[in-house]
Amino acid sequence: MVDVDEFITEATAEIESEIGEENAIIALSGGVDSSVAAALAYRAIGDRLTPVYVDTGLMRKGETEAIRETFDFMDSLRVVDAQDRFLDALEGVTDPEEKRHAIGEGFIREFEREAREADADYLVQGTIYPDRIESEGNIKSHHNVGGLPEVIDFEGIVEPVRDLYKDEVREVARALDLEEVVSERMPFPGPGLAVRILGEVTEEKLTVAREACHIVEEEVADHDPWQAFAAVIGKATGVKGDNRVHGWVVAVRSVESRDGMTARAQDLPWETLQRIQSRITGENDDVARVVYDVTHKPPATIEYE
Ligand code: XMP
Repeated sequence: MVDVDEFITEATAEIESEIGEENAIIALSGGVDSSVAAALAYRAIGDRLTPVYVDTGLMRKGETEAIRETFDFMDSLRVVDAQDRFLDALEGVTDPEEKRHAIGEGFIREFEREAREADADYLVQGTIYPDRIESEGNIKSHHNVGGLPEVIDFEGIVEPVRDLYKDEVREVARALDLEEVVSERMPFPGPGLAVRILGEVTEEKLTVAREACHIVEEEVADHDPWQAFAAVIGKATGVKGDNRVHGWVVAVRSVESRDGMTARAQDLPWETLQRIQSRITGENDDVARVVYDVTHKPPATIEYE
């Protein structure tokens, strides 16, 4: 990206010319990518933009409330409660790619419905450069790229930050005066907690993953990782009180990276790791074990599925 202000002017003009006099909806996730895409689209077409946030039930703790607050200034914000529909679609699905496709399809169907109501022909998305590269290279299908069903009811898809890396998107967010909580926010995958759960997504695993992710984010804040989270990776034996239990195994991951394409497992202090372990097992009786993931990317990916 040459110059932030120049980028903003050009991107706004491009959105305006792509969408013309039509209406559009923007898929808001709460992350920096879609927030920047929304802010740019709002500059370009104002009230003809309907920002839609789909609560899939796969989101971070407090995400829905945070969205309502952050985008309070956009009167047309729509919050869709789709938790049951997503959980139903994921029932019995264990293959990682199938999960991603089920979620991608779910998103599109929700947006199609919302678009009809908003009389919108265009869908704006916060797809960034690494999302496209990884999908094109078939490393995985990002829910907002490779996961799209073949027949889409939109006249066009507009991706204003498609050529930017994450750090460039943050630069644009700062230049647009978006709140720090948005511009500096850790990346969160489109398919949400579903890719932090190995195998089938269930409400029980979601609760474990959501609470554990929240604890990890709180405890590593001072170490400034690119991304830090917890994943539910299976079951193992543990001892709680006087009883042997078969409880969840939670993996903690904290990585440093510039753009998510490669990453290094962070060298966190033992005390921090122990505090995380003690909070996760202490606050959830059904967690038997916490492990720390020391694998870089490559060979591992950042997320688990
Ligand atoms: P991986 O797991 O591929 O993650 O090493 C690289 C970065 O991308 C995020 N990620 C996603 N973001 N849709 C997104 O919008 C997705 O399907 C998706 N999958 C992974 C991940 O959180 C990390 O920052």
